[in-house]
Amino acid sequence: MGPGKTVVVRDPALAAHVQRQSPDRSFYGAILEVTKRLVGFDDRAMEVVMAAALSPGKHLDLLIAQQASTLATQLREAHISDTPISLMAFIQQHFTFASALTLYGPHNPFARNPSLLRDFWTYEAGMMKILLSPWPWMTARRAWKARERVNAGFTEYVERRGYEQGASAMIRQRVGMNLRYGLGEDVAARSELIMLFAVLGNAVPGTFWTVVNLYGRPELLRRVREEVEMNAVVEEEEEDGGEGEGGKKRRLIDVARLKSHCPLLVSATRESLRRISNMSSVRLVTRSHTISAPGSNQPSYLLQKGTVVQIASGVMHHDEQIWGKDAEDFVAERFINAPSATLGQPKKGESEDKTTATASITSLPPSVAPSAYRVFGGGSSLCPGRHFAMSEIVAFVALCVCMFDMEGEEGGVVEVPERDDRRVPLSVMKPVRDVRVRMRRRGGGREEWGVVVEFVSGG
Ligand code: HEM
Repeated sequence: MGPGKTVVVRDPALAAHVQRQSPDRSFYGAILEVTKRLVGFDDRAMEVVMAAALSPGKHLDLLIAQQASTLATQLREAHISDTPISLMAFIQQHFTFASALTLYGPHNPFARNPSLLRDFWTYEAGMMKILLSPWPWMTARRAWKARERVNAGFTEYVERRGYEQGASAMIRQRVGMNLRYGLGEDVAARSELIMLFAVLGNAVPGTFWTVVNLYGRPELLRRVREEVEMNAVVEEEEEDGGEGEGGKKRRLIDVARLKSHCPLLVSATRESLRRISNMSSVRLVTRSHTISAPGSNQPSYLLQKGTVVQIASGVMHHDEQIWGKDAEDFVAERFINAPSATLGQPKKGESEDKTTATASITSLPPSVAPSAYRVFGGGSSLCPGRHFAMSEIVAFVALCVCMFDMEGEEGGVVEVPERDDRRVPLSVMKPVRDVRVRMRRRGGGREEWGVVVEFVSGG
């Protein structure tokens, strides 16, 4: 297997070997590499900025609390009518505005110019065209122009020093470091577009699939609702005369308890992500060496210097030999099993805590190797945003199931669309078609839902 070749790994035991940190292979994570090239960071700077801010602890608790509260406020204030709307657009809107506020602060570009919402998602839809064409300004004109408008918004944000006014510590440090390293304000701004894609690109479609998988299965929806209402609604106070005429009931969802006391919600979310996660972990072989899966009868493989090794997550996530005969099916309870699950393997020295780590209430089926569940990558390169992502997704889904009823555009149960297997996106798989739904507030809108996030990390 020589230089310039690409080797695809689809066996979990070999994947576990390949994903380990080794002087023979270098992690060639596209996002990290592009960001580094664009902004000229060294590895230490990237580690400080990305990993520290998103690892379990005080900073992450704060980010999750802010994100969940913003989502709750937005859903409370959203105009909900009987007119059919695009479910994906609904989720894009709420996640984009909430993430921009949580991470970039009140002076974020989307708050100043809400039309950038559409621009960002037009750009996202055309990313592959932009990437693959030598003349994207001609062949992917719409996406290209949309990207330039978002970049202009971020440039203005950096020039006005918006990141110094209420942005998260992570963004303050990122932008500050970019500028200190001598980058121009426009280049520092452009690197935030990549960051925003990492923040929203998977979380939005991941949330879409989880919502649609629940609303498309009324019995499952009923059980998840019951689970959330019984285990994670921690406070109920009656306002304005309680349940009497004109009274409103205030109910709060504890985000930490969603992850520690709602196995069906968490398992259904993990299962939704399993079925759509397709991203390959990539390594570049820097020194020729052989690999073999320990304890298996498989042969050894020689990997020559210069070979690119891809771990085929999408293939593994659908492999019947790994997941069983129902690998292709949506099985909401698949991850409700023995205790002690993790989202991925924590990095060395990374602690887990009750609020931000995956709940120990779900786990991989006993026969499935940890390296076969690759939603957030694995080994030496794991998604640094995975704890934030799981928290925001379960918070949003729990709020939705408690606050809204949904039916299809023509009435009846929401139809779960097929995955679009023909277009390979840079993120998780999208649906073949838009799903349009009619939404209604539950309880006649007399319940006022919010969230609480219990801080347990200390400090
Ligand atoms: C369901 C949601 C998400 C999924 C499925 C997901 C998945 C992934 C995957 C597979 C990678 C590549 C890891 C590798 O190459 O092995 C990645 C990288 C990354 N993710 Fe996520 N992610 C999600 C949400 C988020 C969120 C919410 C954030 C930030 C708050 C985030 C920040 C990042 C960053 C900065 C990287 C690049 C870092 C690096 O290359 O080391 N992600 N993500």
